[in-house]
Amino acid sequence: MSTTFTIDTSTSRATPTPAPMKRLTVPAIQRRKVAGRTAEPLVMLTAYTVRMAQLLDPHCDILLVGDSLGQVVYGLPSTLPVTVDMMVAHGAAVVRGSYHAVVVVDMPFGSYEASPAQAFANASRILAETGCAAVKLEGGEAMAPTIRFLRDRGIPVMAHIGLTPQAINVLGGYGARGRGQEEHAKIMADAVAVAGAGAFAMVLEGVIEPIAIEVARTSDVPVIGIGASAQCDGQVLVAEDMLGLFERTPKFVKRFDDMAGRITDAVQRYADEVRLRRFPGPDQIYPIKP
Ligand code: KIV
Repeated sequence: MSTTFTIDTSTSRATPTPAPMKRLTVPAIQRRKVAGRTAEPLVMLTAYTVRMAQLLDPHCDILLVGDSLGQVVYGLPSTLPVTVDMMVAHGAAVVRGSYHAVVVVDMPFGSYEASPAQAFANASRILAETGCAAVKLEGGEAMAPTIRFLRDRGIPVMAHIGLTPQAINVLGGYGARGRGQEEHAKIMADAVAVAGAGAFAMVLEGVIEPIAIEVARTSDVPVIGIGASAQCDGQVLVAEDMLGLFERTPKFVKRFDDMAGRITDAVQRYADEVRLRRFPGPDQIYPIKP
């Protein structure tokens, strides 16, 4: 994947100076799947803050402002208490911190399920107040009319099927889905329904690998896996999980770093230097000017 980009020299009244690069678009993401496959898998990570967005943006096709921020940023027990206001504040920060990736913002629990009209009111607010390009919502067949309603009114939707954390009280746990004929059939039907309704891509979370492969192969739109299969059209992880900010992570997470360990070491050194009056040193103080 290329991380060098040409300057986007087009300007307007709103943005009078050239942008560092042209941002990817939703249709460009959808077009990455050709003849049932993405030649190069889509790279997606969560981001909740401006600084993380700046760091992740050059390497990602999609930045997801996931409602997982409820747990990761706010220490909530699940994603259920997350509000539209939270998603708007973090979504706007991530858009400000990125130039390249498509920014997708999660619709939180309770903000879209009641009716397509309720979903449109909240999704249009999210797009208008954050500048993101698309929303993501959980649910398969039941959400298809809502996906169609939003899409037909100018709001691109990424669907999220398989393990849907907002339905934790119905599912009873975060275990992998698809372990019986009934669940298998439901996941396949959900995938067909959301793609048919016009979702430009779907997240497929926590399903046994053969089903993930079947969904990816049979779906016309990119299928982005998490706890699914490397054969999906792309992958997504919570950035803090893959960076090793938490000691305990789910089985499907690979820790690409040990940020928790590195932060602990750095803070320990800072605390030692403060206690020994070694910090601030000569380089960090303001001497009297001669
Ligand atoms: O909320 C989130 O971060 C997500 C991803 C894990 C797919 O939905």
